[in-house]
Amino acid sequence: MASKEFEVQQLLKAYRKGIISEELFAKQMAEIGTTANGQGHAAMSAANGQAAAANGQATATNAQPAAPMMMRGVTGDASIDGGALLTAMREKKTYDRAAEDLGNIVALEHVNVVVPDQEKATLFYINGLGLTRDPYMMTGPANMWVNVGRQQFHLPTGKPQVVRGHVGVVVSDFDALPRRLSRVREALANTRFECHEREGYIEATCPWGNRLRLFAPNKRFGAMQLGIPYVEFDVPIGTADGIARFYSQVMGAQAAPLDDAHGHFACITAGTGQNLFFRETDRPIPAYDQHHLQIYINDFSGPHRRLKERGLITQESDQHQYRFQDIADPDTGKVLFTIEHEVRSMKHPLYLRPLVNRNPSQNIMRYAPGEDARNWATIARD
Ligand SMILES: [Fe+2]
Repeated sequence: MASKEFEVQQLLKAYRKGIISEELFAKQMAEIGTTANGQGHAAMSAANGQAAAANGQATATNAQPAAPMMMRGVTGDASIDGGALLTAMREKKTYDRAAEDLGNIVALEHVNVVVPDQEKATLFYINGLGLTRDPYMMTGPANMWVNVGRQQFHLPTGKPQVVRGHVGVVVSDFDALPRRLSRVREALANTRFECHEREGYIEATCPWGNRLRLFAPNKRFGAMQLGIPYVEFDVPIGTADGIARFYSQVMGAQAAPLDDAHGHFACITAGTGQNLFFRETDRPIPAYDQHHLQIYINDFSGPHRRLKERGLITQESDQHQYRFQDIADPDTGKVLFTIEHEVRSMKHPLYLRPLVNRNPSQNIMRYAPGEDARNWATIARD
């Protein structure tokens, strides 16, 4: 026999879909309430509260006291406010369902650039930017993984590499950035380190020339409070349309050529609040130096088959991962841009791995007990 909670959930679903009227919804919720048999089940209490709210009557149809408005919602999440949910349903609020679609790329996770000096990399990424060295993986001098919310920079030691474009970074304590970066300026003198406050962001350049644009959390980046929302590549004039076709037709991604105040570019959805941008420029583009990015995709075999047909797979890494480098126009086969993609399936053991993120404002002089971890996962909603 279905539980009362299940019945409540089914009624809510039916009401939300317009299968039953508001009156019928209220009546049936009330009926569930009258058969409560004295049990103090949370869903039962909620059902009574829902019915009362729905039909505008008090609890005339049952003898139970007014019920709290918190209930298990249709998702089974006890934290959902039943009152707010009902209000939204009564107002017949509509939603842009397509805005939830991601396409095949579900996450952009890391950007990998080789660095020649781990001490200087630490000064820039950890001390200057306030990010966190992964405490569990790559803990020696040969490589450093740097956590940025749910994303990472991977920094192996060796000949420096530079992204041909820039990396967007969201930092929750954006206002503290200028002071942190100024503190590493002297130690990074005689490198390519720079930082400048621009309109709406801070531009910081790593000691070897990688450009980062640092933003405060913004609706543009969804709920992201700390992370890598995008990577923007500089690409030759006339390539953005073909690049968008490649991501759409070969990778199964959401991709489109767009225009803005800065020109023509390909926009690729690369996760929640995440994008890859390929912006056309007439400036000279440096030769590719083997830096890479890593993405997780849902349909893993489809893109692999299409890449393989085109001879574009460069590495069969393991069961969960392969790599390709060339972005080729699916119409002509012409290579438009090169950036190594480390492509992982959602079965990869590292997918959704929890990442430690510290509160960079902690210091020995003004230590705040209990504040070591950064509350970076706070969800900001409209
Ligand atoms: Fe990688």
